[in-house]
Amino acid sequence: MDWGMKNRMARIFKPNDNRTVMLAVDHGYFLGPTERLEIPSKTIEPLIPYADSLMLTRGVLRTSVKSTSDLPIVLRVSGGVSIISKDLSNEAITTSIEDAIRVNASAVTLSIFVGAEHEHQSLINLARLVNEGERYGIPVLAVTAVGKEMARDARYLSLACRIAAELGAHMVKTYYCENFEKVVEACPVPVIIAGGKKTSELDALQLTYNAIQHGASGVDMGRNIWQSDYPIAMLKAVRAIVHENFNFKESCDLFNRELKVKETER
Ligand code: R5P
Repeated sequence: MDWGMKNRMARIFKPNDNRTVMLAVDHGYFLGPTERLEIPSKTIEPLIPYADSLMLTRGVLRTSVKSTSDLPIVLRVSGGVSIISKDLSNEAITTSIEDAIRVNASAVTLSIFVGAEHEHQSLINLARLVNEGERYGIPVLAVTAVGKEMARDARYLSLACRIAAELGAHMVKTYYCENFEKVVEACPVPVIIAGGKKTSELDALQLTYNAIQHGASGVDMGRNIWQSDYPIAMLKAVRAIVHENFNFKESCDLFNRELKVKETER
């Protein structure tokens, strides 16, 4: 890895613990105005101080995040489908590497769809993006998207994560599952977890704790943060698990203490 690549990776994975709290707000790229992300700036701005990086598209970055922000950007560069498309795996690269450089992205990201109809296309998208990223020292995060018909188990997620790493992804995002340590062991690059659909705050904290215990290098979490009624408290509690080694109970206590501080009074 050259200096630029290493430097960008260090902006995402904090060098003191090699972990990250990435805030995912890219959902609109195929979901449109997702609940509680209808006005992106309103959702994103209050959370910026508590995240290590922000995952989003260039459209939301340019319109909804101040250019004076020094939060590292993980730029989603794939798309071309919508929630009502017949096949969500039919993605292409939507954003040039020059545009990623222009917005000063610390990393670029795309989805791969192992086992789906457009598996080949999505894997070639990844390989090409890695080639471009290598040219300019920009790391690539591969998002292992899971189709409705696919099991989110260690066997399938290991397959997807390992293929992503073999094609050159510098980090991989996947889902937590039983035997998650097997997914991490078989993947030679850092693995972070998505939060998935909104669950209770305590379930999301338990998921985060379990993932870190079993080798995740952090989270790339969206809905379980900003669809919560207490997004700042959630983000702080997740952050404490990732960076301060809080256990589940300690993170719940922190979350409950934070609830006493009204979010509007911050
Ligand atoms: C898919 O829309 C994106 O890659 C999300 O960023 C990802 O699924 C993480 O967000 P969440 O925690 O809401 O699943």
